[in-house]
Amino acid sequence: MSHLLSIDDLTAEDVAKLLDTAAQMHDVQRREVKKLPALRGRTVINLFFEDSTRTRSSFEIAGKWLSADVINLSAKGSSTSKGESLRDTVLTVTAMGIDGLVMRHSASGAAHQVAGWLRDEGRAIPVVNAGDGTHEHPTQALLDAYTLTRRLGPLDGRHVVIVGDLTHSRVFRSNVKALTKLGARVTAVAPPTLMPTAPSEWAEEFATSYALDEVLPHADAVMMLRVQRERMSGGYFPSSREYTVGYGLTRERLAALRPETPILHPGPMNRGLEISPEAADAVSSAVLDQVSAGVAVRMAVLYHLLAGEGSAS
Ligand code: NCD
Repeated sequence: MSHLLSIDDLTAEDVAKLLDTAAQMHDVQRREVKKLPALRGRTVINLFFEDSTRTRSSFEIAGKWLSADVINLSAKGSSTSKGESLRDTVLTVTAMGIDGLVMRHSASGAAHQVAGWLRDEGRAIPVVNAGDGTHEHPTQALLDAYTLTRRLGPLDGRHVVIVGDLTHSRVFRSNVKALTKLGARVTAVAPPTLMPTAPSEWAEEFATSYALDEVLPHADAVMMLRVQRERMSGGYFPSSREYTVGYGLTRERLAALRPETPILHPGPMNRGLEISPEAADAVSSAVLDQVSAGVAVRMAVLYHLLAGEGSAS
């Protein structure tokens, strides 16, 4: 593993190994002194061209707890706002001698492209995709798998229902790949306008439904995804109210779930739209567990890429 651009880069064994390492890293979070020396002397740049709360701060914390020097750079405040190209920005920051690059960009495929440019320049710097457009968000899927495994045990044969704006969701795409690698079954639920049209074999990896109420009683876990208005150009549904009635995890639907069924949401949540406050704050809600797992999983990813066997160093 020289980069983490997509869940496709990982075998089922790689996923299991990363989740194992994440469990060990998670213990650090409970210590008074949260520091491991593993990445001492290494420098990681977080290059974020899109907004982020959890992903960016958890990558920063993860790097710092591993003793790396972490630099955050966002499009606003960098030379991108002066018209510099992505290639020039990346070649500039990597020329400074950094050891790892974490990046988020609004263009699908941006992280792959960056990895290609670095290869062409002979720079062996691992790239971690922290979200590229509507394509993938592999560390989110890993932290979701970690959270689900802690709640449910092994995911083999488990049924995960993923609901929401799936067309625009990189979290959905990465989750289908990661969950099916671990043997789980996925049902995708969305209104027809937000269901991904899938011409590839990838579409065979999940079942689809437009009827949330029929699917929910058979769920071992429910993952609600955000309605991504910023990626929508037209009317994907008539009104917010109608979306909630058809596809929101309302108080009524919460009552129809088995009480222990974990509820996940990667955040940021639109409370009252795709998820009710009752569901978001329910005892079965795993939303804050996901956030906490995010640091551990990102520590595991940085550790394997920068210090583990097969790392670029
Ligand atoms: C997701 C993202 O940015 O892809 N959030 C996250 O990383 N925590 C999902 C979203 O924006 O809805």
